[in-house]
Amino acid sequence: MIETKEAISLLKNGEIVALPTETVYGLAARIDQDSALKKIFTTKNRPFFDPLIVHVQDIVQAQSYAHWDEVSLYLAQEFWPGPLTLVLPKKEGQVSDLITNAGATVALRCPHHSVFIEVLKRLQVPLAAPSANLFGHTSPTTAQHVMNEFQTHVPVVDGGPCEKGIESTVVQFDEGGDKLFILRPGMISKKELEQKLLQKSFNVSAEIRHQNNAPGFLKNHYQPRVPLILVYENPISEGDKSFIDLIKSSIPPELKITRWQLPLDPTLAARQLYCDLRQFSERNEAIYLTIPTAWSQDDRWQGLLDRLQKASHASTDFDGKWRLSSKT
Ligand code: TXA
Ligand code: MG
Repeated sequence: MIETKEAISLLKNGEIVALPTETVYGLAARIDQDSALKKIFTTKNRPFFDPLIVHVQDIVQAQSYAHWDEVSLYLAQEFWPGPLTLVLPKKEGQVSDLITNAGATVALRCPHHSVFIEVLKRLQVPLAAPSANLFGHTSPTTAQHVMNEFQTHVPVVDGGPCEKGIESTVVQFDEGGDKLFILRPGMISKKELEQKLLQKSFNVSAEIRHQNNAPGFLKNHYQPRVPLILVYENPISEGDKSFIDLIKSSIPPELKITRWQLPLDPTLAARQLYCDLRQFSERNEAIYLTIPTAWSQDDRWQGLLDRLQKASHASTDFDGKWRLSSKT
């Protein structure tokens, strides 16, 4: 672990460091140093085609890198600093192609964490930062998680456990500007976005639209190293244990099966999600989690359900009798 001061001088010298944000820990590099940006990809084992989020200290700084429309500006004013990432048309020549995969847009976010903001203000240069984990693995929500992931290869500033616990909501307007696509759900929900837009009489509807080509949007991501099976609740699931036999039949026989219980409050569940997944991996236990029907009808669980579905290996459903669908 290192102090904030040391992180600043390492970043000045073209190194990468892990920093806390309110969502998950990020692996940061200055956006004006391609060699440091390359280190992010090689350290994470991340494919170069997956674009990075640029973290800025405020809206004024963000305006140097993208073309802003009135509605995006309003959303940034309302939600920044915070877990909302806006994908906007980039200003040519201002953002390295390594960050955007040479695309026409750039993803921008102002994180809500005093350590990250202090580093940004001292550097006066934005930082690109994906989650500080190996590609495809569970994201880190404590400094210790980052250390476990990279051992001594990556210096990390300890900013305590992340308040939100899952990655930011990523949004992008369609070309006409009357539709807001949620590319990655997070703790800022569709309803919350729509309500904010309505308050200003912006006639914009929000829609969850997963990008299928980017790794963060693949079917399998954030996966623990042990099987996670989701059990979609139905009225008799608790009394009928035959689904346990079904789960047993789908996992290696030597693995113990544990029932995972998440808090019923989505804010608390998100804070605990990745921490629990890492613990199950360490204990080498298969896990199953009952998904109450109410979760899929409650906007506040969108981000969590998205991560759970990607992290899971299979799910069971009841259709007169228990069925198991494997994801692969
Ligand atoms: O909460 C977060 O967003 C965390 C913390 C560290 O800020 N960061 C994070 O970064 O989750 P990462 O790289 O793990 O996920 C960023 C996602 C990727 O799935 C990427 O495909 C998408 O944002 N993204 C980045 N730039 C984009 C662009 N120009 N267009 C569409 N999607 C983009
Ligand atoms: Mg990630």
